[in-house]
Amino acid sequence: MPTVLTNIGQLASARAELSAKDAGLVADAALAWADTGRILFAGRAADLPHDLRSAPTIDARGATVIPGLVDCHTHLAFAGWRADEFTLRCRGAEYAEIAARGGGILRTVKATRAASEDDLVQRARGFLSAMLGVGVTTVECKSGYGLTLDDELKLLRVYQQMRPDFTGTLVSTFLGAHVVPPEFRDNRTAYIHLVCDQMIPRVAAEKLAGFCDVFVENGAFTPDEARQVFAVSKAHGLRPKLHVDQLADGGGAALAAEVGAISAEHLEFASDDGLWGMAAAGVVAVLLPIAALYLNKPPLDARRCFALGVPVAVATDFNPGSAPSYHLPFAMTLACTMNRMTPAQALRGATIVAARAIGLESELGSLEPGKRADFVLLDAESVEHWLYQLRPNAVVGVYAAGRRVA
Ligand code: NIG
Ligand code: FE
Repeated sequence: MPTVLTNIGQLASARAELSAKDAGLVADAALAWADTGRILFAGRAADLPHDLRSAPTIDARGATVIPGLVDCHTHLAFAGWRADEFTLRCRGAEYAEIAARGGGILRTVKATRAASEDDLVQRARGFLSAMLGVGVTTVECKSGYGLTLDDELKLLRVYQQMRPDFTGTLVSTFLGAHVVPPEFRDNRTAYIHLVCDQMIPRVAAEKLAGFCDVFVENGAFTPDEARQVFAVSKAHGLRPKLHVDQLADGGGAALAAEVGAISAEHLEFASDDGLWGMAAAGVVAVLLPIAALYLNKPPLDARRCFALGVPVAVATDFNPGSAPSYHLPFAMTLACTMNRMTPAQALRGATIVAARAIGLESELGSLEPGKRADFVLLDAESVEHWLYQLRPNAVVGVYAAGRRVA
């Protein structure tokens, strides 16, 4: 039996075929879905097909309805926090400097190696349920705080364990090439071999991830090392993703185009040439304004991407260092003020374009017939007003596959 959500003040369909500036806004709308959890209709209430007019209804009481948000870049499972580093940065220390002194990512690696899989699951579940509460129904989760074969598998198994109980969608990414761990400091080649010869084959054989990410930056990996990793990951069916050009222009955007990455993230220092290459290769730019805010780095002007034809997504980058917040609506408001996106572009960036960044754009990310009925009701008169007057939480209902989950 279908269900119809009526009395929607504004519906944002974020349909894929609309232009980058068009959130697909419809006033006085209705949304219908089948028992299968698939959308049957999304549009003007006046156009609701006759066969759906006698279906049971739910009253949206004038709420704004958007697609379930997609956080396409998080480091969800980790142990410990690094609040003291936040204070050091507030006093003027640089992120890279803290890392060089043994803090940063390696500190979280140490804590995460010491944590049990069960403890990590319990903690990550708490984060996920809070994310659902702010409207996030799909989450991409990276490994990268293990950096041994067993600890990387442990992190990816955390995500695998959470998947059956999570009512939304979880996607995993292998980030064994996050940084070189201390035991390989004097032999980085051996670490690349470990990633390529042991980690990737196991991750692929156990179907623990769909993507392979590499952090390309001074203090992390070089473009050539990333090329080696991706040659192997692609042979195992793991599509490339990249953390690039976050602290300096390392040619990362062009590299993303060259290796056929599905997405490239950060990009604060990307060159126009690199972005042009990404546009030509169809690589999604994933902007992470919370990280730019916390590290006090100049944000990327998204209008450069739009002018060149690069699709732009927005994500949190949730992690204990550069982005300790999982509040995706906060990232969307920052994308407007810092990256110069419009609320409509930010909405697309955290729904349909984010879905594309994880290969799920035909399944979810917009409100149109055939897609998963993942949607969020907002106590706001419009998408514009929601992102303008950012409140702790304007969400009044979250549905995944047509079932109320928050
Ligand atoms: O996306 N850039 C690399 N990795 C993370 C930071 C992780 C951390 O600081 O723990 C990021 O910003
Ligand atoms: Fe990240």
